Amino acid sequence: MTRFAEQRSAVRPRRVTIAQWPGIRAPRLLRAGTETETLAGYHATLPGPVRARVSLEELAAAAEAIDLRGRGGAGFPFARKLRAVAEHAETGGPANVVANGEEGEPASAKDRFLLATRPHLVLDGLLLTADALGAARAVLYVSEPRLAGIAAAALAENGHAGRVEVFLAPAGYVSGEETSVTRALNGGPAKPVDKPPRPYQSGVDGRPTLVSNVETFAHLARAVRLGPNLIAWDGAPGSPGTTLVTVTPDVGGATLLEVPFGTPMRDVLGHAGVGAPRALLSGGFFGGFVPQESWAAPIGHRLMREARLSLGCAALLPLTESCPVATAADLLAYFDRENAHQCGACFNGTAAMARAVARLRDGEAADKDVEALARWSTSLVGRGACGTLDGAAGIVAGLLGVYGTLVREHLAGVCPLCAGDPHDPAETRFRITWGDLFEEGEPLTRLSRLRRTHESAR
Ligand SMILES: Cc1cc2nc3c(=O)[nH]c(=O)nc-3n(C[C@H](O)[C@H](O)[C@H](O)COP(=O)(O)O)c2cc1C
Ligand code: SF4
Repeated sequence: MTRFAEQRSAVRPRRVTIAQWPGIRAPRLLRAGTETETLAGYHATLPGPVRARVSLEELAAAAEAIDLRGRGGAGFPFARKLRAVAEHAETGGPANVVANGEEGEPASAKDRFLLATRPHLVLDGLLLTADALGAARAVLYVSEPRLAGIAAAALAENGHAGRVEVFLAPAGYVSGEETSVTRALNGGPAKPVDKPPRPYQSGVDGRPTLVSNVETFAHLARAVRLGPNLIAWDGAPGSPGTTLVTVTPDVGGATLLEVPFGTPMRDVLGHAGVGAPRALLSGGFFGGFVPQESWAAPIGHRLMREARLSLGCAALLPLTESCPVATAADLLAYFDRENAHQCGACFNGTAAMARAVARLRDGEAADKDVEALARWSTSLVGRGACGTLDGAAGIVAGLLGVYGTLVREHLAGVCPLCAGDPHDPAETRFRITWGDLFEEGEPLTRLSRLRRTHESAR
């Protein structure tokens, strides 16, 4: 066993605790147990009989009433996307709808857990949308075979196996980007393409395509089934309801919570048992370092934007033992490995930033490295086909902006934290595996309408 493998096995498995936030008043989105909810169990959570269909206007109104914003990262208003797809479908033929359950973000566990435990809730949101749009195809896009099996079993149970396709994509950081999704569904590799056109204009089969995250569809189904008033029992003024948050520290277990909008980030960290970390990143690998004076910022898309922060996919990454410089090196190495190697600025720029920050971590950097990093952190922004390069540049900008003093100290030599860092450079310290969430060895359900993309397409 290598030194790194020994150290990694010492911190594995990284179990994920499902924590219940106190005081949520509406029926919860997050179930405590790891078993899969049955259709009867799902219906039992609803206050009335389930209407099979709602109109497009009713669906948009329900989404607007709870200010439903995408949970996949960008926080885009769902009703606006729905209307844009419907508008393009008037001329571009019937629309298609895709529920994005890829969860490429290593530090996030919410989508996989939600889909594994509440497949009927997610499928309800997907079916409501597909029917309201009169969609030609409704697709669930995942990369975890066990999730595909769970979804196929749920579809056999609810009688919609002929309506919803389950698509098994290759796993990867960029596989869940919306144009990767539509490209993979069109038979290509799961890699981003230049925009426009965006999927709402032309996506799967060249048709207007609504791609939304699986948690977004779950909140949509709740808005329709429970009603916006019940959802507004929780949350903040202008930001009703709750959202799923994964707290993934650099070492130790992670925590998955459902949190009312408006809850201070610091309280969420405290509830997850990491009340006083050394540093914090919000919004997953994309979001960047949060200055300490902003740790009390309220969770929410609009609320965090006001504080110049990003909720992203709602993964919070507190550092309890690691140095921010070593962490930035870890994330940049990850971006270097995981970018789609399509855009020169992205693969060359990310590799250069990763090398420079690794030199900084190892006490081998010179002033010119830091000057180059400062230049790249702005000049590379917007130069890739997808946002991955912006994410990498944002990590560098945050490191220099929030931890400028620490960076200067690293120029003077190796810091004790980095020297003792037990991290395996070939894998990010923040990854949550399926085995961290569920016991390994569960049998795969036989799939009905499952298609598998060719791994070589990656
Ligand atoms: C590099 C990259 C990776 C992404 N990965 C995912 C992903 O794994 N899952 C996801 O739902 N959205 C992902 N997104 C966001 C999608 O592009 C898209 O915005 C989202 O699925 C739309 O759903 P929403 O509006 O419900 O958030 C990614 C975006 C980028 C730029
Ligand atoms: S920006 Fe990077 S990750 Fe995105 S498509 Fe281009 S090379 Fe791939």
